Amino acid sequence: MIEIKNLEFQYNKGTTAEINAISGIAAVIHKGEFVAVLGHNGCGKSTLAKLLNALLLPCEGEIFVDEMNTQDHEKVWDIRKKCGLVFQNPDNQLVATVIEEDTAFGPENLGVEPAEIRKRVDSALDAVGLGKERAKKSANLLSGGQKQRLAIAGIIVMHPEYIVLDEATSMLDPHGRKEVLDTVHRLNKEEGITIIHITHSMEEAAEADRIIVMEKGKIVMQGTPGEVFSEVEEIKKLRLDVPPMAELAHILRKKGLNLPEGILRMDQMVEALERMKTKRN
Ligand SMILES: Nc1ncnc2c1ncn2[C@@H]1O[C@H](COP(=O)(O)OP(=O)(O)OP(=O)(O)O)[C@@H](O)[C@H]1O
Ligand SMILES: [Mg+2]
Repeated sequence: MIEIKNLEFQYNKGTTAEINAISGIAAVIHKGEFVAVLGHNGCGKSTLAKLLNALLLPCEGEIFVDEMNTQDHEKVWDIRKKCGLVFQNPDNQLVATVIEEDTAFGPENLGVEPAEIRKRVDSALDAVGLGKERAKKSANLLSGGQKQRLAIAGIIVMHPEYIVLDEATSMLDPHGRKEVLDTVHRLNKEEGITIIHITHSMEEAAEADRIIVMEKGKIVMQGTPGEVFSEVEEIKKLRLDVPPMAELAHILRKKGLNLPEGILRMDQMVEALERMKTKRN
């Protein structure tokens, strides 16, 4: 579990250039959860991501990753192994030009035995669906979505408990996005890896177990996608969109249609309307 306690973070603290990025966040992320983090530009999402894996340290408060305090210098590498971070740009995350070498980089640096590295690299590449691409050798020949999955393989190979994706799908085309999302959902369901997915996509957030909405360095809303997206006016005030079907349901409810809460997708809308029709007949 990740526990965030009274977290505060300022860039350039104590200087005239001080910027308040996180101002009082408390939250718990449980093992096995798939959490989406939403929020307008500059609300502190990336700062939070970096604080979670000890790339930044709190100015006030604490973060515990499986009871390890991110401020404990001796635990930094354990925390980074446990909690991997995937960034936005697929090209900035390659550490080697050969696919297998890229994935082997982390365990090699830790001095893991070569035979064990081979096993782990094979299973990590299979886990992200790049088993076949391995033969291509060069990581530069991969598509954006494949490169992001290679970045995820570089994390999987370290046997993590948590993966934080900081807008990791935002530079990809729809196909690449789907590949990456399917991969992380599978890792969440089958391997029990906890996913924290920072995104501007409402459709992607709708697929999470829980959504956390941030504004100006604070958590301002949280709940299941059904709960969060039923607060249409509130979400819009935060300069965010709601999934189109949630908005349509909201408009139809205002016009007097008795639609249930929690409609996020087309199939749910169709089902709800069909049910109303059956009742009327
Ligand atoms: N390295 C830095 N130095 C100084 N200020 C920074 C730095 N990085 C971010 N900030 C500022 O901290 C605040 C939070 O930024 P952060 O990048 O965490 O937001 P974000 O929610 O990830 O935004 P986006 O949706 O644009 O990625 C913003 O005001 C930003 O300008
Ligand atoms: Mg960001």
